[in-house]
Amino acid sequence: MQTFTSRNLQRSLLVLSLGCFVNANSWADSNAARAKVQTLCQVCHGMDGVAILTEAPNLSGQQKGYLIAQLRLYRAGTRHDPQMNIVAKSLSDADIENLADWYSAIKIKVEPPK
Ligand code: HEC
Repeated sequence: MQTFTSRNLQRSLLVLSLGCFVNANSWADSNAARAKVQTLCQVCHGMDGVAILTEAPNLSGQQKGYLIAQLRLYRAGTRHDPQMNIVAKSLSDADIENLADWYSAIKIKVEPPK
């Protein structure tokens, strides 16, 4: 019983400390994402994910999982686009996660055609 209780306590402390770590991290990551978007993406996709370059897609409010998958495909060279292949080459997994967080977190409002 003694062991069981102390194990439980250890587990709770681990969960708590992981929680703090994640929270402390997400603030830093959102700043890191902003800096990356500013330097690497906004010239074509905009800070708000509304494309400035006419051939570039809008990214605002896109599914996070979809964004991550596409950025990995561009980085691996499996999805071909001369501009995106160059941009994605320099991205780490953490960068991709942060950038996907950034663009997926942008709130959008849609209206179907009447
Ligand atoms: C020089 C312009 C340019 C820059 C800079 C750029 N992109 Fe792109 N991006 C494009 C174009 C053009 C496409 C469409 C490519 C295609 O047809 O596959 C695209 C496609 C994408 C897609 C796929 C969207 C979809 O609907 O499938 C994602 C995700 C993306 N870009 C994210 C980013 C991120 C994140 C950055 C910054 C790290 C970035 N891009 C920087 C031009 C750019």
